[in-house]
Amino acid sequence: MNRPADAVLRTLRTHAEAAAARAHVPYTQTPEAAVLLLSDGTYVPGVRIESATFSLLIPPLLGALTTATAAGRRDVVAAVMPRPLTAEEALLVRQALDVPCDTTADGTALRTTAALPPVGERLDPRLPGPPAPDEAAGIARARQIAERAHVPDSNFPVGCVLETTDGACVPGVNVEHPDWARILCAERTALSTALTYGLTPKRLYLTCLRDTGGSPCGACRQLLTEHAPDLPVIMDRGEAAPEHTTPSRLLPGAFRGDALATPST
Ligand code: THU
Repeated sequence: MNRPADAVLRTLRTHAEAAAARAHVPYTQTPEAAVLLLSDGTYVPGVRIESATFSLLIPPLLGALTTATAAGRRDVVAAVMPRPLTAEEALLVRQALDVPCDTTADGTALRTTAALPPVGERLDPRLPGPPAPDEAAGIARARQIAERAHVPDSNFPVGCVLETTDGACVPGVNVEHPDWARILCAERTALSTALTYGLTPKRLYLTCLRDTGGSPCGACRQLLTEHAPDLPVIMDRGEAAPEHTTPSRLLPGAFRGDALATPST
């Protein structure tokens, strides 16, 4: 018997159902979302984001986890979906958190503690203040954000700030996971957060902190090209002036998936 915790999980499930409206599912038309609960009751949504390169799918729980990490939060106490988690999803959460957690009897949630806090506000991932006034300030901000990277395997922090059309600044960091196939780069983290919160990318500042030649990996080039092909990307070059590019210049001839099975409706 743990009635208050049941009510918490029910509320989180409702939030996950609502968040699913932002899923990007052109290939399956199966919108899905998940919600993480943090130790102070803040909740974090994540949505399913499909790519024309199917294997670059961002699952909802991973999206939520990377949004929380880029916001400087790893204090997850529960992970919830509107349906039972698959064994793979449960493993993703267990490995990411690396603390013991129980699965609820109905399989829709994992929790690290039986005494869950009441559900409070949705996490606001946006950085405080207006967009950077110039490029140097934009790069400086990305360098600060890189401090939030979760990089136990590479010790290679990457940070970015994705400005959006409504004047918001969305942080992104790389978030490593014991299963390397689950690692998201800073750029995909920021993009996934923006999509989850209904924000449209406008400009991206990127720093690979320890690598003044750093630029987006192939997977990030693919996702950025699908969602924002002409996005100005401003890359940190250390002491030298930043370098400018766009996803479509970084990935000429990208796979667009035009002939993939599309929904019949
Ligand atoms: N990484 C990024 O976050 N962005 C890039 O553009 C290049 C690579 C991260 C992912 C992983 O944590 C580490 O760098 C090694 O690939």
